[in-house]
Amino acid sequence: MLVLCAALGCQAGAAQPPLEAAPYEIECEPEQACRVDLATYIGWRVFQAQCATCHAADVRGSSFAPDLALRMDGMTQRAFFAALDNGYFGPRSTMPPRGRDPNVAPYYDELWSFLRARITGDLPPGPVERLSDDEGVAAD
Ligand code: HEC
Repeated sequence: MLVLCAALGCQAGAAQPPLEAAPYEIECEPEQACRVDLATYIGWRVFQAQCATCHAADVRGSSFAPDLALRMDGMTQRAFFAALDNGYFGPRSTMPPRGRDPNVAPYYDELWSFLRARITGDLPPGPVERLSDDEGVAAD
């Protein structure tokens, strides 16, 4: 199920295969929305609905919330999940805890897939569509 972006001929980052299998599949063609696996697609939708008002649609942050590409650089999946569970009560700014939020808590894995795709640069900013052949992923 985990297929390297490079193996699919993904344009960005295709030259350097990642050390670990990426938690996403992406296919991009010029002047079209990139197509992504189901988990990454759900992560994108949840992010737009629940996170983008503060962290911006492209995850690069706002005047009051950090650029996640910088802030999550090197962050483990475990630390990311903990950040969502606990929220963040900084001296100047606050992120509400999401561990009991039914719109966020079921989708941590999907958010991780989407955010890793953005942070590595394999997924450019902008809208995405689903890959039609979601092999190995239950489409329901
Ligand atoms: C109300 C605005 C707001 C929303 C909504 C929000 N965040 Fe944040 N987030 C923040 C702020 C502000 C910080 C940093 C606080 C600081 O550094 O003082 C932050 C920090 C983070 C961090 C870094 C935590 C760390 O330990 O370094 C992650 C990861 C993150 N947010 C992810 C998300 C995700 C994913 C969502 C959507 C589920 C989300 N945020 C929704 C405002 C928000």
